[in-house]
Amino acid sequence: MTEQQTGTCDIGVIGMAVMGQNLALNMESKGFTVAVFNRTTSRTEAFVRERGQGKNVVGALTLEDFVAALKPPRKAMLMVQAGAGTDAVIDALLPLLDPGDLIIDGGNSFYDDTERRAAAVEAEGRGYIGTGVSGGEYGALHGPSIMPGGTETAYAAVEPIFTKIAAQVDDGPCCAYLGPGSAGHYVKMVHNGIEYGIMQVLAEAYDVMQRGLGMTVPEIQEVVAGWNAGELQSFLVEITADILTHKDPDTDKFVVEIIQDSAAQKGTGKWTSQSALDHGIPIPTITAATEARILSSFKEIRERADGILQGATPSFAGPRDELIPALQDAVYLAAVSAYAQGMHLLTAASAERNYDLDFATVARIWKGGCIIRSLLLEPIKQAFAADPDLTNIMLAEPFASDVRERAPGLRRIVAAAVSQGLPTPAMSAALNYIEGYRTARLPANLVQAQRDYFGAHTYQRVDKEGAYHTEWQDIHNIS
Ligand code: 6PG
Repeated sequence: MTEQQTGTCDIGVIGMAVMGQNLALNMESKGFTVAVFNRTTSRTEAFVRERGQGKNVVGALTLEDFVAALKPPRKAMLMVQAGAGTDAVIDALLPLLDPGDLIIDGGNSFYDDTERRAAAVEAEGRGYIGTGVSGGEYGALHGPSIMPGGTETAYAAVEPIFTKIAAQVDDGPCCAYLGPGSAGHYVKMVHNGIEYGIMQVLAEAYDVMQRGLGMTVPEIQEVVAGWNAGELQSFLVEITADILTHKDPDTDKFVVEIIQDSAAQKGTGKWTSQSALDHGIPIPTITAATEARILSSFKEIRERADGILQGATPSFAGPRDELIPALQDAVYLAAVSAYAQGMHLLTAASAERNYDLDFATVARIWKGGCIIRSLLLEPIKQAFAADPDLTNIMLAEPFASDVRERAPGLRRIVAAAVSQGLPTPAMSAALNYIEGYRTARLPANLVQAQRDYFGAHTYQRVDKEGAYHTEWQDIHNIS
């Protein structure tokens, strides 16, 4: 690095994998000068030489040079793999920074790690932002959805950069201050939980069409592309329609058909379910999606079990022109259930973790850039803007009417799938969630009776206040 490059950079990015590279180029394209650093120095050099050529990027081969390249108060953004790597970078970086400088973690960090890191960094007088960045490689380059959490002072320092590099939609940049501490990473985790749910619902719809209705990939593609042209328009439906057009040049088969049916995951869906259990919020569509990935990963066992337990050869009865509209309703409602559950979890977590989230803002910054962007987010935003205390979007219009009108379609598809032995874990979970949520009297009275029977746990009555216990049995005569 030359003398002239000292202290010239508006922000720096650490981690030159594709997300880091693209984010740095996005920042540069918005007029910022960007320092870049990667632990493997050849990667930094290659980036500066190739994609960064002729651009306002300054490659640093040591962390010391990286820090020296930044204008104070320095802003160092980590785009490294979440986990131990993030701690290692922070440990190395922190002693090089001055009071008032800022560390920004843009990875998919676990929220409690973010709390711990923020406390440690802030104890040293430096600022900390934990932020979700969604949109994959394309979003990082052209405008992601950015979900920052931390102190308001720290956010004020990055706001001019973040709001420029974020995706822009009709009502502003897809970036807003979300709340203190781990608020940003928590919101991003729930975003990913919803992402898992919708992805699984679409995978089940593909299975229903392919195995249940015997449709070819081009026929399925046409249906999914049609969905994307209407009310289901969203990034995930759009890419699904595109995926179904791709052929493998070697075999001339559709690429989707030659991909191993074993889904991976990096943890955010699992954390969402774990946290939902901790907060006592049901998110069955999301949990079913996470578990479906886990089950899919037992590929060898499933192949053996197929022979032993004899898997079904499903074939749906009923005309396709009735089942396809029912499937659209099923996909729509199951997706609504994933958003409903994710937002419900956020309302509970916000209260218990003191994030003080503005849910309309969360929905607004998900409208563009991120993986779960969809037409549904505008009415979700409006529902929370009209009633900030709303806990479940299914109670607000247009979703309440949607649930009433489309539940028959969801029921029809799940019933057909169940009767034909075709697994639809996320759609079934969505249906049971909706049916349970709108059932005024559930059979939990019997569970309470059982608890009281064997554990004297007491129960409440429907007709008077207080806690009651019944002497259900003669304890000495129990068999
Ligand atoms: C995003 C995505 C992204 C996600 C990866 C992989 O918002 O851009 O959510 O951050 O982490 O796509 O996630 P899994 O490996 O867990 O599927």
